[in-house]
Amino acid sequence: LRNYKIAVLPGDGVGPEVVSEAVKVLKHIGNRFHINFEFIQDLIGGAAIDQFGEALPAHTLETCKLSDAVLLGSVGGPKWDDLTGEKRPEKALLGLRKGLNLYANIRPAMMYESLKGACPLKSERISDGFDICVVRELTGGIYFGKRGTKVNTSGYDEAYDIESYSSEEVRRIGIEAFEIAMKRKKKVISVDKANVLESSRLWRKEMDILSKKYPEVSLEHMYVDNAAMQLIKSPSQFDVIVTSNMFGDILSDEASMLTGSIGMLPSASLGSTKKGLFEPIHGSAPDIAGLDIANPIATILSAAMMLRHSFGCDLEAGTIEKAVETVLNSGFRTVDIFENGKKLVGTTEMGDLIVKAIE
Ligand code: NAD
Ligand code: IPM
Ligand code: MN
Repeated sequence: LRNYKIAVLPGDGVGPEVVSEAVKVLKHIGNRFHINFEFIQDLIGGAAIDQFGEALPAHTLETCKLSDAVLLGSVGGPKWDDLTGEKRPEKALLGLRKGLNLYANIRPAMMYESLKGACPLKSERISDGFDICVVRELTGGIYFGKRGTKVNTSGYDEAYDIESYSSEEVRRIGIEAFEIAMKRKKKVISVDKANVLESSRLWRKEMDILSKKYPEVSLEHMYVDNAAMQLIKSPSQFDVIVTSNMFGDILSDEASMLTGSIGMLPSASLGSTKKGLFEPIHGSAPDIAGLDIANPIATILSAAMMLRHSFGCDLEAGTIEKAVETVLNSGFRTVDIFENGKKLVGTTEMGDLIVKAIE
């Protein structure tokens, strides 16, 4: 029997709603394929602040370190928005990523045939479909650089956040991107702002050096402003996008909308071991929390990524992905991807349908 320990961190807002659907799906996969999943639930984000006074309690990080993988919902919300930077729920997520050294964030955005109509682009722009893999650097850059506030010499308040990358940080995310590209269409587009930023010029130089080791993979550099535009103009030109922490954050939300909704995009955060953190790219969606209407597919697909990347369960991961496609092909939609003529379902109902499609 295969045994895996999964740390489950539902977090805030819609986090608990979507995570419980993913856990439900994993339990069914466990039954069907004889895998023993042990789920260890713990608190993170606002929920942890409310209970323990801190967003990332030591026991939560410890639970994750002792597990084979982490499944996370989302953190944050208006209730905790007035807290200072260090105390915010979002800081816990950064601490978790850093604490587990998960420097590579993989965010796949692809067009489902049956969701063509949910894509905001005109149909002729997506006639070739698209299958994009955003490889986002996750433990460096402006998210982790020096930051602070001060009163400047003119007496005005000033605040700063420094973007900084070492060649080692760039190289390891680059290797991740090239390795992924080798298994795909062998095309890497590195996105930066090298016409302005020194850190981007280092980024570009390292990507060029690396590309010599991957002669089969084509490397193109693109400025981030152009990339934001090109994603809308012709998404099919992209295969692998490798970019910095903040650019990757922004471009992946943009890419998610091409699929129909941010509620569709899963992610895997990986490091140098098999242990990964798996979470939807969306946030706690406070505007729809508690209504049982959030799309759980991003989190369910994140669970599939966990099976593939952390446990090597490719067949089981594929089974989940196929079940999601089957349900979409049958016309079931949560409200975020709803179109006329489709069948509107809620969060738990969507989870149930995917479970049924697995059986
Ligand atoms: P958000 O992703 O939470 O929501 C943006 C919009 O998308 C909202 O209208 C929301 O209703 C919708 N949406 C998001 N997920 C959805 C789903 N599964 N199904 C249907 N609709 C969905 O981003 P935001 O509003 O900018 O942030 C809200 C809070 O979440 C903030 O506190 C933010 O810091 C936090 N956040 C957390 C994460 C994370 O935990 N990984 C990610 C992003 C934002
Ligand atoms: C994401 C989120 C986080 C990020 C925030 C909540 C810290 O937006 O996972 O995309 O910026 O990485
Ligand atoms: Mn984000």
